[in-house]
Amino acid sequence: MAGSLAVVGLQWGDEGKGKIVDVLSEDCDYCVRFNGGANAGHTVILNNGKEFVFHLLPTGLLRENVKGIIGNGVVLDPEQFFAEIEQLNTVGVDVSNRLFVSERTHIVLPFHKTLDGAKEALDATPIGTTKRGIGLAYADKASRSGLRAADLVEASRNSSFARKRLLSSIKEKSALFSAYRLGTINESELLDWLHRYGQMLRPFVTDTATLLRKALASRKKVLFEGAQGALLDIDFGTYPFVTSSQTGVWGISAGTGVPLRRAVKVLGVLKAYTTRVGEGPFPTEESGEIGKRLRAVGGEFGATTARPRRCGWLDLVAAKYASLLNGVDGLIITKMDVLTGMSPLKVAVAYEIDGKRTDTFPTLISDFETLKPLYEELDGWDEPINSARRLNALPKEARQYLRFIERYLGTPIEMVSVGMGRDAIIRTKGKQN
Ligand code: GDP
Ligand code: IMO
Ligand code: MG
Repeated sequence: MAGSLAVVGLQWGDEGKGKIVDVLSEDCDYCVRFNGGANAGHTVILNNGKEFVFHLLPTGLLRENVKGIIGNGVVLDPEQFFAEIEQLNTVGVDVSNRLFVSERTHIVLPFHKTLDGAKEALDATPIGTTKRGIGLAYADKASRSGLRAADLVEASRNSSFARKRLLSSIKEKSALFSAYRLGTINESELLDWLHRYGQMLRPFVTDTATLLRKALASRKKVLFEGAQGALLDIDFGTYPFVTSSQTGVWGISAGTGVPLRRAVKVLGVLKAYTTRVGEGPFPTEESGEIGKRLRAVGGEFGATTARPRRCGWLDLVAAKYASLLNGVDGLIITKMDVLTGMSPLKVAVAYEIDGKRTDTFPTLISDFETLKPLYEELDGWDEPINSARRLNALPKEARQYLRFIERYLGTPIEMVSVGMGRDAIIRTKGKQN
């Protein structure tokens, strides 16, 4: 896997992975989504200066040299898939013949989305999901009642196959529909839907695991684009306030069918402060003026749901947990520019739980209720840094902040992002990969 990269989030998502994937895909051959679905919102800035948000398609597709793959670990919403292709067309990006979907990718069906919304509305402790049907589609996958891309294609050719595959699912989901007072599932409408999207999806569906293995054997450069972040992972995140997929490097093999015997270079993206959308623990959250300032200056509103993001200080205890899990080789620090004008800057270096100091990220959700972050204060800076392109063009306080992160995490910083655009980047060790 010479030159191949994994870009993963080290917080609760929205670290700026989209921008980084866009920058790094300049000299990549493939960009691969391996987890999540249209719950992701990966923002890039187009040549005309406008924003574009990728939800389901690999962000690298913005570069014409890149082929996009949606791996089997993703859950694919066909409506969103075609809407996004259309949106890309309107900004002059054509993905014909360079976008591939695994035969084994599970499909998000309309009732998954309806039930996600209804469950959230009625639940006593909602997760604050994106209502994209993600959890419901993964639940069906695990309970062996899901529909895969290959099934969808087959269903569009063979209506008795379609009926048979969906019958028990419809029965089960109908019971939920009536419990949530959602009316009934219209079977013939659903069959039409399967027929339409199965036909449309057919040209994209292929054995992507073999495609990828061949590409890697011929030394093509592959970029694995993580969605969400380690703290939202189904196993390692703040369960149950998590998403339903594997969001770190451990998800790559399972989500693509590529053995990771020869490791990819793992780049962990860490925002210079912390944000979270939805419910769940957030030790360094600042609900007052500091949080408001970070939200306003950082434009911290959800790229998928437009919800205001919760904001707070950088949490290095959580970041270390995430970076060790991923075996991160290099760090990419984003949104450093947002901290300009704030001093002092607080950074959590340990937690206090029941009066005891610890640097272990808790497993038990109730531990977060009594947890107090222990901070170190660092000097801030006042100069705008958006136009810095070398480390030594940054104010010394900004360099100290970066050095502090690097030392705490024991991992080198390879890039620092200082603005939204492609060029607003400092490469600390020459070009990556
Ligand atoms: P992702 O989900 O990890 O791809 O991140 P999002 O796209 O959801 O959120 C990151 C937001 O920050 C987007 O609006 C980006 O355009 C923006 N962004 C990325 N890097 C930087 C940066 O270095 N500085 C600033 N000011 N904005 C950035
Ligand atoms: P990117 O890739 C931030 C959050 C939701 C909710 C929880 C479960 O842009 O970083 P889900 O709809 O997945 O069942 O919601 O996970 N969430 C994200 N938060 N960034 C994301 O993706 C997210 N994807 C899901 O807000 O708390
Ligand atoms: Mg996002």
